[in-house]
Amino acid sequence: MIKVENVSFSYDKKNTIISNINFSINDGETVGLIGANGAGKSTILKLLVGLELNTQGEITIDDLKVQKDNLTKIRQKIGYVFQDPDNQLFMPTVYEDVAFAPKNYKFSPEEVHKRTIESLQKVGIEELKDKPIFQLSGGQKKLVTIATVLSMEPDILIFDEPTIALDPKNRRKFIYLVQALKGTKIIASHDLDLIYDTCSKVILIANGKIIAQGQTKTILEDKDLLENNGLELPLSLSKR
Ligand SMILES: Nc1ncnc2c1ncn2[C@@H]1O[C@H](COP(=O)(O)OP(=O)(O)OP(=O)(O)O)[C@@H](O)[C@H]1O
Ligand SMILES: [Mg+2]
Repeated sequence: MIKVENVSFSYDKKNTIISNINFSINDGETVGLIGANGAGKSTILKLLVGLELNTQGEITIDDLKVQKDNLTKIRQKIGYVFQDPDNQLFMPTVYEDVAFAPKNYKFSPEEVHKRTIESLQKVGIEELKDKPIFQLSGGQKKLVTIATVLSMEPDILIFDEPTIALDPKNRRKFIYLVQALKGTKIIASHDLDLIYDTCSKVILIANGKIIAQGQTKTILEDKDLLENNGLELPLSLSKR
């Protein structure tokens, strides 16, 4: 279970970016984090994995407080797909990047290979395995970052704007993948149709505060609530 209690955060001690947020996520839930540009979605995700530690309040992941001495354990539980793949991919080739975590975790060479190929197959990019990262398109890079977290089969998956660079077919494939994946999932996205199709709960952020949280239908079908916070109804609902 993930628990965020009275959490506030600022990058520079001057501007408050996150103010006094509270939420909890049960094991196996898929939760959407939505809000306009700059609302604080990516920052909240960074706080969950302890990429920023200077927080007020308390965050716990399965009873482990997010603090320096717990980070190794916490990061073994969490797979985190960054908003910007360039911040995540650092090995020369696709295969090496996806194999990196399982190799580091000291799985046998056969197990590393199996996990790497299976992860690449899940996102449909096995044929890219020997490509240098720098030769990939934006969408291909995003798919590689998704494969890098799948290779560890973590209990918790965090996706920051997973569909932003994907074409319609890969986007649909990603939705099926999320629906099939077990475990706890948190998705920050402007793709409200993706959130509608995958999440049971939604948290709406504006200016670093939680404006609303609840059942996906309740939040995403509330046109006024969305529009008052810089968002629009999911396309599939606005066409009705
Ligand atoms: N490293 C940083 N240092 C200082 N301020 C930052 C830093 N990263 C983000 N911010 C600021 O924090 C606020 C929240 O940013 P964040 O990236 O969390 O928003 P977001 O909801 O993910 O937006 P987007 O939809 O554009 O991805 C913004 O005002 C941003 O300018
Ligand atoms: Mg963001």
